[in-house]
Amino acid sequence: MGSLHWRTVNPHGRRRVLVTKELPGTRWLQLLTADDCRVDVCASPSTLTASDIRAALAGGCAAVLGQLTEPWNADLLRALKDAGGGVYANYAVGFDNVDVEAATRLGLPIGNTPGVLTQSTAELAVALTLAAARRIAEGDAYMRAGRFTGWHPTLLLGQLLERKLLGVVGAGRIGVRYAQIMQSAYRMDVTYFDIRRSAELEDFSATYSAFLEARGEQGLTCRRAASLDELLAEADVVSVHTALREETRHLLGREQFARMKRDAIFVNTSRGALHDEAALVDHCRTHPTFRAALDVYENEPAMCPGLSELPNVVVVPHLGSATGWTREGMAALAAANVLGILNNWPVWNRADIRPFLSASAPKAAPSIVNATELGLERYGGTS
Ligand code: DGY
Repeated sequence: MGSLHWRTVNPHGRRRVLVTKELPGTRWLQLLTADDCRVDVCASPSTLTASDIRAALAGGCAAVLGQLTEPWNADLLRALKDAGGGVYANYAVGFDNVDVEAATRLGLPIGNTPGVLTQSTAELAVALTLAAARRIAEGDAYMRAGRFTGWHPTLLLGQLLERKLLGVVGAGRIGVRYAQIMQSAYRMDVTYFDIRRSAELEDFSATYSAFLEARGEQGLTCRRAASLDELLAEADVVSVHTALREETRHLLGREQFARMKRDAIFVNTSRGALHDEAALVDHCRTHPTFRAALDVYENEPAMCPGLSELPNVVVVPHLGSATGWTREGMAALAAANVLGILNNWPVWNRADIRPFLSASAPKAAPSIVNATELGLERYGGTS
């Protein structure tokens, strides 16, 4: 398989599963080998190209447990199918790297790993919001450069978050969790933009607001914005938690940044292409009081020229899900998706996927994004 180094576990297993990067933890491997899979894991640190994957598929393959860095387009999915593949399991909750429509046409189930990332990614969004508001990265660089000559009343003044207005774009699991943390920790009012009403967020907010009022404090508000423009014009912090699709690409561009408050904070922990990175660079350059905190980039791993030179931007390398518990959980869910499909088990029908992390995991595939389109059976017989 070329110059890449692969390690093989259970070489005489009855079904071959390709795993395109080393994964944390051991449970995922135990699950696959206990089911007598031969597991070929790419042990080289490189990101595999389509031709690397094609070469690895040669000789037959029942399933691939792959990565968001790989282009699972119609051609590659066809190559998997031709190699005898029955399922592709993405090691991510997002699946914008996969042509799901093509997979459905090929009859190929596509797995993802929701649920285990919610808290970790929400916590990173909180950390980035604070880093931007309190200028943590600038302070860190200042110290390391030996520039701190003593306390000063005007040194690196930041912004208080308490009682400000938080704008959440996309009220899915991660957006809701992030908003709940920001409400309970910083008593922020919330405005959110989503095609659906989030009863979970609104109910939490109402309950927490009643709790504050019962203690003699001012309550909180939470409302669904009539439009993205409305949210952008009002919010002090704008955090993006929506999925990347053709219609959400560059959801935030030059015009949208111009609508935001001059000293707003913009956070993106979802996908880089949701914002126009070149427009963001220009905006941050011409608006020094505006702050951006980014975990994701339009052309990962590259950053748009100029981004890294801007003091009002905080950048981290796609770390949203980077906690041991979450990354091990993602691996276990991805392996369970492979086994669920290869064994013709039904597809899990609940949002709570924690049972798959227990010693006696359900006999089901935890999350198949095209299960409905493929008419796959649901766990417990319901859809
Ligand atoms: C995902 O799962 O989509 C994240 O971006 C990677 O952790």
